[in-house]
Amino acid sequence: MNKKLIAGNWKMNGSLAANDALVRALVAGLAGQGGCDVAVAVPAPYLAQVQSLVAGSALALAAQDVSAHEAGAYTGEVSALMLRDFAVRYALVGHSERRQYHAESDACVALKAQRALAAGITPIVCVGETLAEREAGETEAVVRRQLAAVIHVNGHCISEVVVAYEPVWAIGTGKTATPEQAQQVHAVLRAQLAAASDKAARIRLLYGGSMNAGNAQQLLAQPDIDGGLVGGASLKPADFLQIIAAAQ
Ligand code: G3P
Repeated sequence: MNKKLIAGNWKMNGSLAANDALVRALVAGLAGQGGCDVAVAVPAPYLAQVQSLVAGSALALAAQDVSAHEAGAYTGEVSALMLRDFAVRYALVGHSERRQYHAESDACVALKAQRALAAGITPIVCVGETLAEREAGETEAVVRRQLAAVIHVNGHCISEVVVAYEPVWAIGTGKTATPEQAQQVHAVLRAQLAAASDKAARIRLLYGGSMNAGNAQQLLAQPDIDGGLVGGASLKPADFLQIIAAAQ
């Protein structure tokens, strides 16, 4: 069984004062626990602040995005090498909010994953279907297509990637996929990875979409769910710590 990974995605939330209180509470709550890996994906301007707050703790630093370009005239972009300067361990790529609001294609997401890997950062590749796609019976085809782009570009090192299944209809809606629905998709992803890598069993597959203190245990008990990517509940230290406890 894989060591579970619980990653909080703060999205565009936070301030110097709020981050300080949140991270201090998490670091204190994590002291002495080592049963699962834990990370927080913070807005880029706060990387330095959170880097110093998590130093020496069990909490790893993650970015919410990374540029598909290496360096140069790309105003507003943050490169993988810049992230590495702040000891960033993971970077989300292809979050549905990036795909939706910034028109990120599968090919762009694959390039981002490649940039992260080249800089020694583990990409957390997000895949997931919209409600319309689920209702049209396209869930499997959509997630397989999204994952295929990354496997194709990074064929030789796919085992170093983390994959997060986030059904778009479950994000921020309070509507969670049932453990069975989530497991069903995770099994599809696992099989696809297995066809591409003999190390597929050790690739961590996270579930994301309204994971909270109440439903985490059941979701994390599924055979192919190796952790969670948590949005709203990661901003509340008590809730996030309960999710982490459920992953031990
Ligand atoms: O990346 C995490 C995410 O999109 C889920 O958000 O608020 O539904 O937990 P939330």
